[in-house]
Amino acid sequence: MMKTISLVMVGFGNVGKAFAQLILDKADLIQKEYQVEFRVTGIATTRHGIAVDPRGIDLQQALQCMQQKVSLDTLCREGVPTSMEEFVQTCPGDALLENSPVNHHTGQPAVGYIRSALMRKMHVVSANKGPVVHAYRELTDLAARQGVKYYFESAVMDGMPIFSLFRSSLPAVELRGFLGILNSTTNLILEFMEKGKSFEEAVQYAQVLGIAEADPAEDVDGWDAAIKVSALATVLMGLDFKPQQVQRQGIAHLTPRMVEEARQAGERWKLVCRARRTPQGLEASVMPQRVSSDSPLYHISGTSSYVQFETDVLAELGMMEGKPGTYTTAYGLLADLLNILQNR
Ligand SMILES: NC(=O)c1ccc[n+]([C@@H]2O[C@H](COP(=O)([O-])OP(=O)(O)OC[C@H]3O[C@@H](n4cnc5c(N)ncnc54)[C@H](OP(=O)(O)O)[C@@H]3O)[C@@H](O)[C@H]2O)c1
Repeated sequence: MMKTISLVMVGFGNVGKAFAQLILDKADLIQKEYQVEFRVTGIATTRHGIAVDPRGIDLQQALQCMQQKVSLDTLCREGVPTSMEEFVQTCPGDALLENSPVNHHTGQPAVGYIRSALMRKMHVVSANKGPVVHAYRELTDLAARQGVKYYFESAVMDGMPIFSLFRSSLPAVELRGFLGILNSTTNLILEFMEKGKSFEEAVQYAQVLGIAEADPAEDVDGWDAAIKVSALATVLMGLDFKPQQVQRQGIAHLTPRMVEEARQAGERWKLVCRARRTPQGLEASVMPQRVSSDSPLYHISGTSSYVQFETDVLAELGMMEGKPGTYTTAYGLLADLLNILQNR
């Protein structure tokens, strides 16, 4: 029998819009294979309005509104909520899709939105790293008490199935550590430097391509990578490990000469993430390092990323993500939702 699942969306930016497009594209397949149809009952943004319609918002129209810079308020069939908090507390739904900007320092206000939804016994699916590193244990415990799930596959390496792999396919495995390239912006900048650009020129190039932010500090200083290391360690290794505890160095001090010297030695500079369980807990770092061609990291080019896990039974388990994009991130959200509905 067909089941209708109501979704409430906080954030309708790159990821939110890609998710809307994905569930439109896959509607027939999802209905056929899972006997599920999704109905979006609310979409909230900060500057582009808020739409609430318990009977279901027309997603094509919502996407058109965003494209034509028409407020989503025009699609609202109820009184427009006066705040994001009111929206999260009142919009009817079975699951919250939380895709607001990341706050690296506190995880807020996303942690609050997720808490409110879980209190209402709604599942939560989110691409946001902030709540994972700042409130994973609290939110997961709250979800369990409420009989719902909080999943966040897209928070690290977009839609790559990392968290679900450990949750579902690697029972009783002991994760000893991991290494990888988890920030695609710095990987691209380093590649531009290999082609002869200065650090500043390489950053500008990445900005023109829309890969680097206007303020690229969080990427080039290694913060984004440190947060991902912290998220993986917290969830997969059961350690409450904050980004501030990751030993961190960025790539801003690398010069074209250093990059050229590495090239002549048959090596490449990479911003390498590492974590290793120790008797005291965990040692973790994000550091630029020269890697040689016998390392899988050497071959990770452009905006690709890579993680390699070391476990007690699988000595080296590597996953590479090439050509990342928001559609992949959106897929991680959809996979989480379907996994929740399948009780996986
Ligand atoms: N882009 C990716 O491929 C990717 C990959 C992995 C993870 N993520 C994560 O996914 C999340 C969304 O990323 P994005 O690229 O879609 O960002 P984005 O394009 O900046 O969109 C953010 C959305 O959140 C809304 N928003 C802004 N401040 C808010 C607040 N305080 N409360 C609630 N909503 C707020 C924005 O409203 P307006 O529309 O009015 O601006 C916008 O709709 C982030 O946490 C990001 O780290 C993104």
